[in-house]
Amino acid sequence: MISDPRFHGAVKRLGEIPKVYLVLSSKGGVGKSLISTLLSYYSSLKEVPTGLLDLDFTNPSTHIILGVKPEEISYKEEKGLEPFKIGKLSYFSIISFTRDNPLVLKGDEARNVMREVLSIVNWTGVQKLFIDTPPGLSDEQLEAIYNLKSLVKPIVVSTPHNLSIQSVLRLVKILRDAGFSEILFVENMGNGKLEAFADAEGLNYVGYIPFVENIESCIGSTLKIENCVLKQYFEAILSKT
Ligand SMILES: Nc1ncnc2c1ncn2[C@@H]1O[C@H](COP(=O)(O)OP(=O)(O)OP(=O)(O)O)[C@@H](O)[C@H]1O
Ligand SMILES: [Mg+2]
Repeated sequence: MISDPRFHGAVKRLGEIPKVYLVLSSKGGVGKSLISTLLSYYSSLKEVPTGLLDLDFTNPSTHIILGVKPEEISYKEEKGLEPFKIGKLSYFSIISFTRDNPLVLKGDEARNVMREVLSIVNWTGVQKLFIDTPPGLSDEQLEAIYNLKSLVKPIVVSTPHNLSIQSVLRLVKILRDAGFSEILFVENMGNGKLEAFADAEGLNYVGYIPFVENIESCIGSTLKIENCVLKQYFEAILSKT
């Protein structure tokens, strides 16, 4: 990537943002999209200029959580593409281009789309950026982990279930090998019992989000997000980021 001019563009764009968080989990379905979306939205309500970037190109879902239709999203061109505003949140997802068509990316294509997006979106003024990533350890994640490591902080998400914990331990090893010293850790659909696990693994435990039966009452519109019963838990996590 180093010889790719888009790499330098991406480094410049991300380097201008004081705090960039990469929300990660090697396990699917643990709540990465919910957490990156709600953290960024609540952060934007606190007068902190905040951005949300959806890097899950094959299965973007942050727009569904925010309740915006792909056709409503548009970007002005101003030294790149200006993020779309949802309230005070600066937002970018390729869903506005792909609409409801499945995006099948093979081989190097996913990495190319990621390089393009990171180098083209103009986050000027944003103080905190949350990046939602696809599950597993795809090329996009590995590229972000290895090539952008000086610019991003990982937030690893896990549920309290052993299948998720074991998977996350492998991801933590990859992050450590890549040189990340600080790894933030969020327990989702839990009750705080993973704090001891996180401490033992040297992870920076920033809080937990309990399981709620009626999660639909928290997603699908910004009004629902604002009135979500989980808000206090996200605000507690935000106070540590
Ligand atoms: N704290 C919670 N309580 C109840 N349901 C939750 C909670 N967190 C997430 N969910 C639900 O779990 C499902 C998975 O969440 P989400 O899509 O955010 O996970 P993900 O890690 O982004 O998944 P993927 O790996 O497919 O990208 C969704 O239906 C979501 O609404
Ligand atoms: Mg997701």
